[in-house]
Amino acid sequence: MTGKVALVTGAGRGIGRGIAGALAGRGWTIAVNYRSDRGSAEACLESVKKAGGDGFLVQADVADTGNHERLVGEVMERTGRIDLLVNNAGMAPRQRRDILQLTPESFDEVMNVNLRGPVFLTRLVAGVMIEQVKNNNEEAPLIINITSISAVYASVNRAEYCMSKAALSMMTKLWAVRLAEYGIRVYEIRPGIIATDMTAGVSEKYDKLLEGGIALTPRWGKPEDVGKAVAALSENSFPYSTGAVFTVDGGLSVARL
Ligand SMILES: NC(=O)c1ccc[n+]([C@@H]2O[C@H](COP(=O)([O-])OP(=O)(O)OC[C@H]3O[C@@H](n4cnc5c(N)ncnc54)[C@H](OP(=O)(O)O)[C@@H]3O)[C@@H](O)[C@H]2O)c1
Repeated sequence: MTGKVALVTGAGRGIGRGIAGALAGRGWTIAVNYRSDRGSAEACLESVKKAGGDGFLVQADVADTGNHERLVGEVMERTGRIDLLVNNAGMAPRQRRDILQLTPESFDEVMNVNLRGPVFLTRLVAGVMIEQVKNNNEEAPLIINITSISAVYASVNRAEYCMSKAALSMMTKLWAVRLAEYGIRVYEIRPGIIATDMTAGVSEKYDKLLEGGIALTPRWGKPEDVGKAVAALSENSFPYSTGAVFTVDGGLSVARL
């Protein structure tokens, strides 16, 4: 396998697949991580190859820190490097419940997938990246975290999701600070309302909000919209930016009066 190597978590479906496709179009080799849906991951790999990239599948539930050594080990064994980590895998609460009915079980599940997993996976990959920087003079690797407008918009019927994304946003800053001395830049991409399985169950609600003008760009976001943002960052187009937030929300978060 040639070219730069990206580990994209949760790449089988939705936004992750959009990211893998966009990177593949620029010749990246993609480690397509998936949790349970192997069929989708295989379809993603096929689209990666069609787009001109290369890749392979790596199964791992990123919420389980016990899987991380194996996950990163498999990528290193196959490619010997990681130039980009995209922490994309994430979940919404299985059931939307008012914060007054928030359960510890749902809180723990969402936090483990959306925050605890990425924190410790990033810690492990950061170690690999630091060694890579020390051992060669190539461009430093990058880390991109996929958060959400929910990092700053309060939805009281999925509080655990909002809290997980707000914390992931802080995680971006913390790693940006810690890894700056190695030239490793860390970014947050903050998507708005994107058409994927995650939003399929509440599409009527979002159809109405979009028709009502909630976003300045009057349409649903697509996984490819997020993919394009990741691809732009991956090409070192923003060498003087780190710890920064890039919104991909069709202008939804522009404060208006
Ligand atoms: N859709 C939106 O409107 C929106 C907006 C803002 C931010 N986001 C964020 O964007 C990211 C992707 O969301 P999406 O809309 O594409 O969701 P999705 O369609 O539900 O897909 C989720 C993906 O994440 C994977 N995944 C979930 N838990 C995992 C785990 N523990 N370990 C490994 N992989 C796991 C799934 O893999 P399997 O299929 O193998 O289970 C699947 O590929 C999430 O972080 C989400 O919070 C989404």
